[in-house]
Amino acid sequence: MSDPFATTRDLFELPEGLIYMVGNSLGAMPRGVKPRMAAMLNEEWGAQLVAGWNGAGWFDLPRRLGDRIGAMLGAPPGSVMVADSTTLNTFKLLVAALRLAPGRRVILSDKGNFPTDLYVAQGLAGMLGQGHRLETVAPEALEGAIGADVGVLLVTEVDYSTGRRHDVPALVTRARAHGVPVVLDLCHSAGALPVDLTALGVEFAVGCGYKYLNGGPGAPSYAYVRPDLQADFASPLWGWMGHAAPFDFAPDYRPAEGINRLRVGTPPIVSMTALDAALDVWAGVDMAMVRTRSLAMSDAMIAAVAADCPGLELLTPRDHAARGSQVCFRFEHAYAAIRALMAEGVHGDFRAPHTMRFGLTPLYVSVAEAEEAGRRIARVINRRAWDRPEYHARTAVT
Ligand SMILES: Cc1ncc(COP(=O)(O)O)c(C=O)c1O
Repeated sequence: MSDPFATTRDLFELPEGLIYMVGNSLGAMPRGVKPRMAAMLNEEWGAQLVAGWNGAGWFDLPRRLGDRIGAMLGAPPGSVMVADSTTLNTFKLLVAALRLAPGRRVILSDKGNFPTDLYVAQGLAGMLGQGHRLETVAPEALEGAIGADVGVLLVTEVDYSTGRRHDVPALVTRARAHGVPVVLDLCHSAGALPVDLTALGVEFAVGCGYKYLNGGPGAPSYAYVRPDLQADFASPLWGWMGHAAPFDFAPDYRPAEGINRLRVGTPPIVSMTALDAALDVWAGVDMAMVRTRSLAMSDAMIAAVAADCPGLELLTPRDHAARGSQVCFRFEHAYAAIRALMAEGVHGDFRAPHTMRFGLTPLYVSVAEAEEAGRRIARVINRRAWDRPEYHARTAVT
């Protein structure tokens, strides 16, 4: 059988020889983005000016993009909207979820969740007062902590700092048994592993466009509202773009139909155009194959490193079912080691305090490259290549 990923790397603009393993932070740029952006700037904004809102279909782009992403996530048309950032959409969805469980005051999450999710929950609890609070437990304890006092379960499928993957179907089953709505963060899932929101039955989901979806720095987020909840779904952020008739300029808010209520202000069409073009790389891609390839990559990488690497501890589960699409190691000098690795042609990233993190993106990194990255990690550690003053000097962001 021919290799379905044999030519997908050619769809991306990547420096020759670089093994780029930070696609779980910022995806590589699909080649189709540049010509599409040039066309947008020249033929749409440049030529049509404000008429582009209708003439170039800008006004409907957030919803069209939502449908494209929804199709990748097992969500029916009209159930996903592209808007704002993951942080903002998490806020909207948490409020909507709490409204489904009146009287319950606990937002439940786990200590491995990404900080912005926890901050939003903390801020919301503080804003609501009246005993609302965020409770966090160890990731392994999350399922058992779901009870009748919980107003919403806020869970990110894959832990950004360990690569551990929750058993989401099990969490959803227990949440349902206790009447707890779920907000599922798919930042490290969409484009990384198969997702079927309809089969899962979660009430709400959210994610970003710039990691595995390759939409570019700061690409907008998407949010899902289960179709049966849309008639009563009430976003806490009332903006004119989510109004039933924005161009009536009426003094009072009247919510738009269904998913359109997730819109708030004027959408960032330039960014959305880049995301739209970036999504073309997924045409004909089978997510089950992506998953198989991603696991083969992480297996190869782990095996290459594990041979003999004193001081390096694997943080990512060995169990395939509990692994997302990244490999993380704990190493005392993680920051310096990541810097040293860059000199060896492997780009991973550092997460404080001691984590080396490597994203696996089968569309543009091969199994052989993942294995080679593992060998270079082992070499950097074993030869203490990280132990140079210039690798310890901290820059602001890696
Ligand atoms: C799980 C998760 N949620 C949210 C975010 C970031 O949210 P935003 O796109 O609003 O910056 C990240 C960023 O890495 C993330 O990993």
